[in-house]
Amino acid sequence: MKKVKIETNLDVFESVSELPKSIQELMDKAHKVGELAYAPYSHFKVGAALLLESGEVVTGNNQENAAYPSGMCAERVAIYHAGAQFPETPIVAMALTARSIKQKSTTPVPPCGACRQAIAEYEVKQKSPIAIYFMGHTGSVFKSNSVKELLPLIFDNSYLQ
Ligand code: THU
Repeated sequence: MKKVKIETNLDVFESVSELPKSIQELMDKAHKVGELAYAPYSHFKVGAALLLESGEVVTGNNQENAAYPSGMCAERVAIYHAGAQFPETPIVAMALTARSIKQKSTTPVPPCGACRQAIAEYEVKQKSPIAIYFMGHTGSVFKSNSVKELLPLIFDNSYLQ
């Protein structure tokens, strides 16, 4: 038996103002679309903004449902929209922000496991990494250069051969 150590690398920015200008704008769009989330059950609003290689920005927010599992996370609303509208255009970066209506969180909120798997599918499809920037309502921003940093031992189509 031997042990395997898996490391994750993230960049930490003290605040949005430390981000490159284009990503500040992307994060601003994530905040704005997050405000429009339909989250009457959790009162937890999430916004996602994707920057495509063409410069196009695609946004999404969480959409809840009285039948809870029928709802959808912001990240997947956005990435499936991009996949539907611009299937041939790679996604370069993703900005995510989340906040509870009760409390303005300063802790960066990462994408959930199911969303990581969905993002992984698109990285594999486009054969290039997607930078993921995520934050709470205010405060520091974490950056992952690829979903692989957030989802080691990724399950992808190579196992289906
Ligand atoms: N949510 C997202 O939109 N993205 C995530 O990565 C985590 C959770 C949403 C789903 C639900 O509407 C609410 O946040 C509470 O879980």
